[in-house]
Amino acid sequence: MPYNMFTQGKKGSNQGSDEYFTPRIYWESIKELIPNETLWEAFYGDGSSAQHLRDLGFNVLEDTGDFFKVASKHKETIVSNAPFSKLYEVLKTLVDMPNKFILIIPIPKLAHRKVYSIMKKMNIQVIIPNHYTGFVVNSIQTRCPPVYMCYITRGLELDRDLVYL
Ligand SMILES: C[S@@+](CC[C@H](N)C(=O)[O-])C[C@H]1O[C@@H](n2cnc3c(N)ncnc32)[C@H](O)[C@@H]1O
Repeated sequence: MPYNMFTQGKKGSNQGSDEYFTPRIYWESIKELIPNETLWEAFYGDGSSAQHLRDLGFNVLEDTGDFFKVASKHKETIVSNAPFSKLYEVLKTLVDMPNKFILIIPIPKLAHRKVYSIMKKMNIQVIIPNHYTGFVVNSIQTRCPPVYMCYITRGLELDRDLVYL
């Protein structure tokens, strides 16, 4: 059963703010660093992010289910912008999974007390974007994000742990 962002996304605190979608530039600007293998846009949202990846030539798996229920079925590389309100739970799930991943997160989350405690176990490498672009909210592209973003990655074997685009 697909994860329904309109019904399931309303539960709990903060989750209204999870419904913003990734414009193409976030994937286009790291295209060369994304592994050329089957990708899973694990937090499908309105599907536009997966479509951007497909437009860039990647093979993107279609599984729009609840991440926490379907994650163990998947070995693909996860490329997504996860719900920030569940970032800790998402990372806690990923820590025991073998998947490579690329996730867009707000830079302050790197030092967030609860989140960093799990992230430091994960051998992550971080990419800093060369643009400061907003997200798509209610079909409108916002001019800038509320905070600076980065990508946390695992398994990409980047040359450095901190890559500035
Ligand atoms: C920040 S949005 C990004 C959507 C998409 N990945 C993108 O980059 O455009 C995060 C999305 O995750 C969805 N979401 C929240 N919890 C989820 C879950 N347990 N499983 C799958 N998706 C979930 C939200 O409804 C929201 O659409």
